[in-house]
Amino acid sequence: MEKHASKVALITGANKGLGLEIARQLGQQGMVVVLGARQGKADAPAAALRAEGIDAHAVELDVTSAADIAALPPYFDQTFGRLDILVNNAGVQLDDGPDVSPDTLRQTYEANVIGPYAITQALLPLLRQAPAGRIVNQSSILGSLTAISQGQGGSWATPGYTSSKAALNMLTVVLAQHLAGTDIKVNAAHPGWVKTALGGDDAPLEVAEGAKTAVRLALLPADGPTGGYFHDAERLPW
Ligand SMILES: NC(=O)c1ccc[n+]([C@@H]2O[C@H](COP(=O)([O-])OP(=O)(O)OC[C@H]3O[C@@H](n4cnc5c(N)ncnc54)[C@H](OP(=O)(O)O)[C@@H]3O)[C@@H](O)[C@H]2O)c1
Repeated sequence: MEKHASKVALITGANKGLGLEIARQLGQQGMVVVLGARQGKADAPAAALRAEGIDAHAVELDVTSAADIAALPPYFDQTFGRLDILVNNAGVQLDDGPDVSPDTLRQTYEANVIGPYAITQALLPLLRQAPAGRIVNQSSILGSLTAISQGQGGSWATPGYTSSKAALNMLTVVLAQHLAGTDIKVNAAHPGWVKTALGGDDAPLEVAEGAKTAVRLALLPADGPTGGYFHDAERLPW
């Protein structure tokens, strides 16, 4: 496939919430956006974005499915000849108290840690070919050992979600170090507390605001940071 003229971005968990809004905002900046979601759920949101004038596509992607992940490199290679931006946004918050079962912990790690790791690993060869590859891991301040150890997590500081985001943070650091000297930047984002299915109705931020950190990191210039953890432009403590 001849290389598409515009930059191409994959956003996981893009059927609703922050993922859909990140896709919208990247699309508004002229990117081709590919919305990943499970069970055909990306089709309607991708069509809605196209109706807004955005070049949006849908791809079947359960981030815990090895088959879906294996299909990604040939899809991007054959459809666009490139991939420039990967936003690992899909995530789950399955525990709601201090006593998470091992099965729930495992399920949480499958979606929040192993999925992003496997997707990144599968797509790295394409991202390496991009002139300005960007990887954004949608983390949370709840993954900060500093914030949680200072008591900032409150009742949200449950073992499964927090430790999975801390693990995602470490993957961000290690990958950024591994890719030092390349054109790829890898950073972790905290969107703020945002009104979504996961964030709940009491959250102070609307999705348009919450999407901004990941969008900013996806569009970092060549002299921008890598291996960092950010909310807006503010660097967060690990
Ligand atoms: N909202 C907040 O305040 C907040 C704060 C900090 C961090 N975050 C992070 O932001 C990200 C997006 O969350 P959100 O707030 O937008 O919540 P959301 O509206 O619940 O969206 C979560 C998205 O992840 C998808 N997802 C979950 N498991 C998946 C899987 N196995 N395969 C593919 N997609 C999967 C969901 O798809 P389905 O519809 O199929 O379930 C949905 O699209 C998450 O990583 C979350 O941890 C959110």
